[in-house]
Amino acid sequence: MGAQPRTHLTRSEEETERIARDLGAKLGVGAVVLLYGDLGAGKTCFVRGLASGLGIDPEEVSSPTFTLVQEYRGRVPLYHVDLYRITPGEAGELGLEELTASGVVAIEWAEKVDEMFPSGIAVRIEDRGEEAREVRIGSLQL
Ligand SMILES: Nc1ncnc2c1ncn2[C@@H]1O[C@H](COP(=O)(O)OP(=O)(O)O)[C@@H](O)[C@H]1O
Ligand SMILES: [Mg+2]
Repeated sequence: MGAQPRTHLTRSEEETERIARDLGAKLGVGAVVLLYGDLGAGKTCFVRGLASGLGIDPEEVSSPTFTLVQEYRGRVPLYHVDLYRITPGEAGELGLEELTASGVVAIEWAEKVDEMFPSGIAVRIEDRGEEAREVRIGSLQL
């Protein structure tokens, strides 16, 4: 992604998904999407859009409750990782780097592992009240 962060104010879940779908359509093997935001911000919603852009039925995407990594088969595989329940130390031992060899990796609660992915695409989502969300997409450094 370019150095310029992009900020979107979305007004619905569908709108957030659309932005994510446009991003997903541009991604290939090795891409890592680092998702930041509180519980309920819309990270999983964003992953649903990414899936759609990768040719995966978005309905396949759910919040992994006990599974840390879910794999969906599309144009390229999408690995959906949710680190909510584990510590940064545990997260570091999952071998997430290896997934980048074969697919796109989307990580919720990315702050626990982002040091491992300096070239990841950072997606920060903030609740702006009711159905409004601020979605910022940029490189990790920004
Ligand atoms: N603009 C929006 N974008 C994304 N989600 C939204 C938006 N407005 C309301 N929501 C709601 O916020 C919640 C986001 O949930 P989810 O994607 O599971 O969050 P997270 O994975 O960050 O915990 C959903 O209930 C969704 O319907
Ligand atoms: Mg989630």
